[in-house]
Amino acid sequence: MSLNNIINYLKYYFTAKTAHGVHSPFVYKFITELLESYNNDYYQFKELDEVRKSLLKNNSIIEITDFGAGSKIFKDNKRKISDIAKHGISKKKYSELYFKMVNFTNSKFILELGTSVGLNTLYLSKANSGSTIYTIEGCAELAKFAGNLFKEQKAENIFLVNDTFEKALPTRLKEIPQLDFLYVDGNHNYRSTINYFNLGLEKKHHHSVFVFDDINWNEEMQKAWQEIKDHPEVTISLDLFYVGIIFFRKEQQQKEHFVLKY
Ligand SMILES: C[S@@+](CC[C@H](N)C(=O)[O-])C[C@H]1O[C@@H](n2cnc3c(N)ncnc32)[C@H](O)[C@@H]1O
Repeated sequence: MSLNNIINYLKYYFTAKTAHGVHSPFVYKFITELLESYNNDYYQFKELDEVRKSLLKNNSIIEITDFGAGSKIFKDNKRKISDIAKHGISKKKYSELYFKMVNFTNSKFILELGTSVGLNTLYLSKANSGSTIYTIEGCAELAKFAGNLFKEQKAENIFLVNDTFEKALPTRLKEIPQLDFLYVDGNHNYRSTINYFNLGLEKKHHHSVFVFDDINWNEEMQKAWQEIKDHPEVTISLDLFYVGIIFFRKEQQQKEHFVLKY
């Protein structure tokens, strides 16, 4: 962590709220049911933990083609699956949160930017077998690995697209009737993030949810997050430090921003 990031984290830490002191009934429900609830009531979490463990033990090496903002951890393009699973994908508690969010928001059409090895996609998929998950990954070897994992795990509601976000996102958005859940986890720079957000806006509805990973990854991401939460159509924004979540709910009379402990 850079000094700037440590300062930002400390600011977050000392201002983040729990359910106490939150007046919005919707956000209160979100906190008590998703952020402060115990996770072990979902049988799928145990199965997904096993998948994570096996990825963490997988020593096969693949060659990465980088279409994004690069990595802060890896310096060369040959990577072990176990290292990607350790440093390059969502931590368990965030994947579990997204799983619970799919149910909470009753999301049917879900779009993930950045499949990587496919573990987070599996969480989105296992939350509701009646939903459809489109996941986009630029790197061919990662896409191949994730595709095999989806087959192995019988995740038939996942449609994996091996292409750049820039090419595949507009096409997928045209094909889907509505965008219930957008999860952006790749290419962490200002212009691209704002571009994905603006594209997503065209297919969103009042109950859509958009999730942006790594909102504090660099100054560009902080700037993008600021602009996203300030957008006039965004009515509720939640800052969990590593992750930013936005809603467009019309039931929310006044725009509100929450910094929440997680
Ligand atoms: C942080 S990883 C995704 C992790 C995954 N969501 C998870 O939590 O398990 C980001 C992925 O996005 C891909 N990516 C980054 N920029 C891209 C772009 N412009 N087009 C396509 N793929 C891209 C990278 O290859 C990488 O695998």
